Amino acid sequence: MELTKVLENRRSVKSYEQYHLDRETIYNLLDKAALSPSAWNLQQWKVIVVDTDESKEKLYHAANKQIKIKEASATFIILGDLNAHETIGDVADDWIEHEHIPAEKREGLIETVNRFFESETNKRDEAVRGASLFAMSLMLVSEDAGYATCPMIGFDKQSVIDAFNIEDNFIPAMLMTIGKGEMTNERASRLPASSFAKFE
Ligand SMILES: Cc1cc2nc3c(=O)[nH]c(=O)nc-3n(C[C@H](O)[C@H](O)[C@H](O)COP(=O)(O)O)c2cc1C
Repeated sequence: MELTKVLENRRSVKSYEQYHLDRETIYNLLDKAALSPSAWNLQQWKVIVVDTDESKEKLYHAANKQIKIKEASATFIILGDLNAHETIGDVADDWIEHEHIPAEKREGLIETVNRFFESETNKRDEAVRGASLFAMSLMLVSEDAGYATCPMIGFDKQSVIDAFNIEDNFIPAMLMTIGKGEMTNERASRLPASSFAKFE
């Protein structure tokens, strides 16, 4: 589908038909969303796919009992990794292999990245930014493939962490349902660009 159409058609869908979404299709959508950009290609996103009744039940209770979690085919818990920069050596090697940087720049790159991530604010910002860019891509590729989604922050962070044994270095950035469903009401209005953008 044309990208503009995908953007226009995507809605935050609140109720879902009973529909089994197979794991191969889910992997395929996640692979496409992983084409998202990230600073230094660190790919901070990690995803827990909640698609069993038992896991849905746990997530439902940690997420304000949002019924769409039980109805949807699956819900993604999209996490941002605070320690993704620890993989910068691998990223550097991959960049050298793909001729993005010459080998002699390797150590300088690692030093720059490690210095940037000494800041706790930078770590947190990048984890949430990376996970959010991934999430937007996942909504769009899902829409393009004929699946409805809804991003959600209506959850208790600590309850999600406890229920799914999420390690300390991961921040739950957002949840996202996926399945078959549609919104029949009109989209709420958006402010025009002239109200939020300025040229300088
Ligand atoms: C980060 C984020 C968190 C959201 N959290 C929830 C949520 O917890 N529950 C819900 O029903 N909708 C949630 N929404 C959906 C918004 O209400 C919806 O995107 C907005 O009203 C615009 O509607 P549209 O996506 O259909 O264009 C969330 C959206 C975003 C982007």
